[in-house]
Amino acid sequence: MRDQLEQLNQEALAEIATTDSVEGLENVRVAILGRKGKLTGLLRGLGQVPPNERPLMGELANRVKESVTEAITARQQNLKEQALRASLLAETVDITLPGRKRSQGGIHPVTRAMGEITTILMGMGFEPASGPEVESDWFNFEALNIPADHPAREMHDTFYLPDFPGGGRRLLRTHTSPVQIRTMTNRKPPLRVIAGGKVFRCDSDLTHTPMFHQMEGFMVDRDVHFGHLKGLLETFLIRFFERSLPVRFRPSFFPFTEPSAEVDMGCLFCEGTGCRVCKGSGWLEVAGCGMIHPAVLHNVGIDREIYSGFAFGMGVDRFAMLKYGIDDLRNMFDNDVRFLTSQAVAGV
Ligand code: PHE
Repeated sequence: MRDQLEQLNQEALAEIATTDSVEGLENVRVAILGRKGKLTGLLRGLGQVPPNERPLMGELANRVKESVTEAITARQQNLKEQALRASLLAETVDITLPGRKRSQGGIHPVTRAMGEITTILMGMGFEPASGPEVESDWFNFEALNIPADHPAREMHDTFYLPDFPGGGRRLLRTHTSPVQIRTMTNRKPPLRVIAGGKVFRCDSDLTHTPMFHQMEGFMVDRDVHFGHLKGLLETFLIRFFERSLPVRFRPSFFPFTEPSAEVDMGCLFCEGTGCRVCKGSGWLEVAGCGMIHPAVLHNVGIDREIYSGFAFGMGVDRFAMLKYGIDDLRNMFDNDVRFLTSQAVAGV
């Protein structure tokens, strides 16, 4: 029996040494030490061994068990180290590769222009207000003296939505002027208010996008006159473009102002001699404005005998394009990261 035990030990050790997987080792362990294993099988013959030799054989069997278990553990460890070494070799890290840059965000030019415009006008005593982008016919048109059959409605190419639940037309605001009505309905003069935001018109070509941005401004007080409006817009334009500029007011028409004017400033690119940007005229159209129509004051319950006011509306996208030298309006809304990165300004 002693020889058999020793032989079993030798065979087991030899087999373990040539096994090269963890599962294989487990199979060897079961084949030798398991309940139906070879060692157990040998010990079943212990009854035939003379009684005085039995303790010795038991001890020998225990040693075989220990030696096989140890050999398996050592081999397992060995296999793990081999696998680790192989994967370290295969997965070498090239520490000379440059790191991955995390790109930094920036302020969109429209947001930046909106912020600059707001800062200048707040410095002149105007306070910001806002209104919803989904408007009613009353705020967007009726109260602004644009009745349903008025030809001015055609200028607006309105996006209509399903009617309000209680009835009444629902639409996307075509300008920021409804904020005038909302503010004047809720508050009493004196008022100096600005309201910037998105507006929508069903229009899309090289120079028009269905959504664009406007900044509205208006003032209502006693004795407000056109001279105040002129002075304000001239000062504003010089501050925004950070240079002196000729500004002119061209008679125009808006149903909610009377008199009305279109504001032009000298072309920034050709100094008035005529170029592609100003289409040869030397002037750039930058805002619409006028004295608030008495009918509008009446609609919001402000006494037109006591108060007067002016209002203006400008295209923020156009201001951003002119100031930051962007030549294609569509760049503003394409969200092309290359454009946005080229426009990003450190620290703003
Ligand atoms: N709401 C006008 C437009 O969108 C602009 C404007 C505003 C004109 C205020 C006069 C006064 O065209």
